[in-house]
Amino acid sequence: MAELHVTTKLENFLYFYPKNVTLVGVRHGERTNFMAVAWNTALSFQPPLFAVAIARKRFTHRLISEARNFTCNFLPYENADVVHSCGRVSGAEVDKVTRFDLGLEPSQVIASPGLREAYAILECTLESTTTFGDHDLFVGRVVAVHYRPDFFDQNGTLLPDCVRPTLYLGADTYVSTDAASVVRRPRRPTL
Ligand SMILES: Cc1cc2nc3c(=O)[nH]c(=O)nc-3n(C[C@H](O)[C@H](O)[C@H](O)COP(=O)(O)O)c2cc1C
Repeated sequence: MAELHVTTKLENFLYFYPKNVTLVGVRHGERTNFMAVAWNTALSFQPPLFAVAIARKRFTHRLISEARNFTCNFLPYENADVVHSCGRVSGAEVDKVTRFDLGLEPSQVIASPGLREAYAILECTLESTTTFGDHDLFVGRVVAVHYRPDFFDQNGTLLPDCVRPTLYLGADTYVSTDAASVVRRPRRPTL
């Protein structure tokens, strides 16, 4: 194995990829739009908070700022093409719902819909917006979760035999999990 290389040239620091990419959905007025977001993370259990980092030039940025709610949709790997398309086309130019024939899943609490193909959907109301460099972090309070019970065990852990998440490697390349490489350790109570 080659030795670790170190650099202070930081145009690309994404050597930690892959990331489980989500499609962020938002409806504002007549417009419903979905955008691919690799920079997404849970922030807190209590209250339940989930954040997405979105560049200010995105159409989605404008829509979330106005609508103040959004969904995060996690799609099986078989849908990588749709995920990618929603990450390479702007809703400012194209109605992605029509163009990509997206099936909408009505939300329980918020106005923005989810996607029918998702194995998990978070409904979020906008809690705060904070600027970090060239992106803004939209922090959402999770107000409802949709999930396919046949894809999760009783603890809510994804079953890798049943569904393969869409992981982004960068450079327009996707990968997924391999059920044969699962490592299960004895469960201990969470501290
Ligand atoms: C896999 C993937 C992940 C992406 N992740 C992000 C992200 O985390 N934040 C961001 O601002 N843009 C991200 N993008 C770019 C946007 O999804 C892309 O610019 C999209 O067309 C914006 O759509 P909109 O203009 O309709 O909002 C990503 C693109 C791809 C393909």
